[in-house]
Amino acid sequence: MPETVLVTGGAGFIGSHTCVELLAHGYEVVVVDNHANSSPHALERIAKTAGRPLAAAYQVDVRDRPALSRVFATHQVDAVIHFAAHKAVGESVALPVEYYDTNVGGTCALLSVMHEHAVRRLVFSSSCSVYGDARTVPLTEQSPVAPTNPYARTKLTCERILEDVCAHLTDLKVLALRYFNPVGAHPGGLLGEDPQGVPNNVMPYVAQVAVGRRERLSVFGDDYPTPDGTGVRDYIHVMDVAEGHRVALQHVDDRTGMRVFNLGTGTGTSVLQLVAAFGEASGRPIPYQVVDRRPGDVAELVADASAVAEAWNWTTTRDLAAMCRDAWRFQELNPHGYAS
Ligand SMILES: NC(=O)c1ccc[n+]([C@@H]2O[C@H](COP(=O)([O-])OP(=O)(O)OC[C@H]3O[C@@H](n4cnc5c(N)ncnc54)[C@H](O)[C@@H]3O)[C@@H](O)[C@H]2O)c1
Repeated sequence: MPETVLVTGGAGFIGSHTCVELLAHGYEVVVVDNHANSSPHALERIAKTAGRPLAAAYQVDVRDRPALSRVFATHQVDAVIHFAAHKAVGESVALPVEYYDTNVGGTCALLSVMHEHAVRRLVFSSSCSVYGDARTVPLTEQSPVAPTNPYARTKLTCERILEDVCAHLTDLKVLALRYFNPVGAHPGGLLGEDPQGVPNNVMPYVAQVAVGRRERLSVFGDDYPTPDGTGVRDYIHVMDVAEGHRVALQHVDDRTGMRVFNLGTGTGTSVLQLVAAFGEASGRPIPYQVVDRRPGDVAELVADASAVAEAWNWTTTRDLAAMCRDAWRFQELNPHGYAS
C-alpha cells in the first residue's frame, strides 16, 4: 500500500514542489491549505507536473480543529509535513499576534488532531532564522539560537513545543528542518515562487526585475563584514528542499522523539553574486541600487550541512546556476505568476 502524506500549506512555494516530488515517488498526497498566500491554480499545476493527481485537496485553515479532524477522519494519514505558516519577517513585526496565532496556534491545532487520530510522524518546517545574527558560520544544529524577529521566534517556539510534546508522547517521531534560503523552481516551468504583492525575498524580486515587472533591485546594505559588503546567504534549490522532505520521510522512523536538521548546501552567496548569476541565466541586465540596511537583517547565514549528509546519506545536488535558470524559466513562462 502506498503511504499517504498530509501536506499542510501544500499549495505554497515549497509545499507544491514537495507534493510533486512525493507524487513522483508513489506517495498518496492530501493537501490542506487555506490559500492565505497561495493560488488554488498551484494544485492543478502540481498534478500536471507530476503526471498524477493529488489524492485530495482541502481549503481548510489548520487552526480549524473540527475541519482538520474531518480531513484526518477521511484519509488514513501515515505522516504529516507541516508547511502552513506565515513567513514574511517584516510583516511579522507589524502583525505579531497573527504570526503567533497561525504559526504556533496552527502547529498546536495540528498536533492535537494528529494525536486524536493516532498519527505519529511529522516533518516540520523550521527556519535558519532561529540562529539570528550568527557569530560564526557555518552554522551547525548546535549553534546558539537567538531569533531577531517575531517570525523567527514563532519557529523557535514551535520547535520547543515539539520537544515538550515528544517528551510526553514518547512514540511521536518529529523532524524539524531548518531551511536556509529556498529558491528556484521546478524545471518543467509550471511551478515556481509566486509571491503576492511585492516579493520579500531577493530571488523572486530579481526575477521580476529581469522580466520587466520591477524597475530595479534594492540591495539592503553593502557595508556588512562580507567579501563584497552585501549579505551572504545559503541558497538551496527548492527541488533539493523537496527531495530533502522525501528523504526525511524515509528517516522519520529512525528514532522516536524530536530531531533538528539544517537543510542547506553549505555554500554562501552574496546578493551581488546572485544578481550576476541571474543576469547570466536570463541574459538580461539586473539594475540595482544600494540602499540602507534592512532592520533585522544579518550579515551571513550559511549551513553546516554535514548532519543530514551523515544521517541520511544525502546531499543537495543543484548549484546556483540551476537555481537561477529554473527560477528564470518559470518567470519567463509565467510573467504574472499563476495568474498568467
Ligand atoms: N521560503 C523560505 O524562504 C523559507 C525559509 C525557511 C522556512 N520556511 C518555512 O517553510 C514553510 C513554507 O514556506 P513557503 O516559502 O512555501 O511559504 P508559502 O507562503 O508559499 O506557503 C505557505 C502555505 O501555507 C498556507 N497557509 C498559511 N496559513 C495557513 C493556515 N492557517 N491554514 C492553512 N494553510 C495556511 C499558505 O496559503 C501557503 O500556501 C513555512 O512554514 C515557512 O515558514 C520558508
